[in-house]
Amino acid sequence: MKIVVRRDDAALAVLKSLKKGPVSGEEIATKLGVSRTAVWKAVEKLKKAGYVIDARKRVGYVLVSSPEFSAYEVADVCFANGILEVHHYSSIDSTNEKAKEKQGIVVIADRQTAGRGRRGRRWYSEEGGLYFSISLPPHLNMEDLPKLTLTTGVAVCEALSFANAKLKWPNDVLVGGKKVCGVLCEVVGEAESPAVVVGIGINVTNPIPDELKDIATNLLEFGVGRKEIFEKVVGNFFRLYRKLPSDWEEIRQRWKELSDTLGRIVEIRVAERLYRGIAVDIDESGALILDSNGKVERIFSGECFY
Ligand code: BTN
Repeated sequence: MKIVVRRDDAALAVLKSLKKGPVSGEEIATKLGVSRTAVWKAVEKLKKAGYVIDARKRVGYVLVSSPEFSAYEVADVCFANGILEVHHYSSIDSTNEKAKEKQGIVVIADRQTAGRGRRGRRWYSEEGGLYFSISLPPHLNMEDLPKLTLTTGVAVCEALSFANAKLKWPNDVLVGGKKVCGVLCEVVGEAESPAVVVGIGINVTNPIPDELKDIATNLLEFGVGRKEIFEKVVGNFFRLYRKLPSDWEEIRQRWKELSDTLGRIVEIRVAERLYRGIAVDIDESGALILDSNGKVERIFSGECFY
């Protein structure tokens, strides 16, 4: 299944009508100023997306049930934030790869066959998790990109406040000390001010593989669905993204408040080098400040262990 929802998608308007109660094809057609065939086609698209819609004599179309998640359900929050298209796949290799193809879209998948994590790792992407990528037109300079990564972490962490989520540098979100979300920001092209794809993977109800159970968790116990989480994350993300780069200081303070890392003794691997020390701060440029036996190290990216 692949669904693409655009701002002017008749299916979106038809769905809104159906949610108010049974309605005839003719009534919808008149209200929306489209043909009855267009209404029928929209209904077929909605069925493909998992909506159960009955056509009943003398009653009209009846929305019997809605899927747990669909691009139509989350289109409003995307369009309200300037997104042009919402793509929803039942299965795809990687939403980040797809999102690189076009600026201003959101790509969501129910599962990924080649989900990618940071440092070339694999990202387990079984059904039940929330896997999506936002492709952003150029807005920030290269040197501001560490801020975007940290900002994304804040957006997710605030969305998961019901689970008392915390941030592990550089951008893991933890619940109960275990990783529940990872963020992979990738630059598209080589411009001074590049387009960026922000990929977010959140373990919602997907099972955690045995070999990862000590370090990873999901949100199953909280009974919150993908739709609600997606809307919160995307709403938060764009509210914060619009503040960049000018109001970075506000976001930096928020990152520090939500941090699980600051104050801890950590080890950070950057390529072949291993730094050890106390994580003391995130500086104005988005670097982690490490006090390594009195020597101050500024680290922009790496793998953090504690
Ligand atoms: C990490 O290593 O912590 C980052 C994980 C990022 C996973 C997300 S899932 C959606 C998007 N598509 C991918 O292939 N990766 C990111």
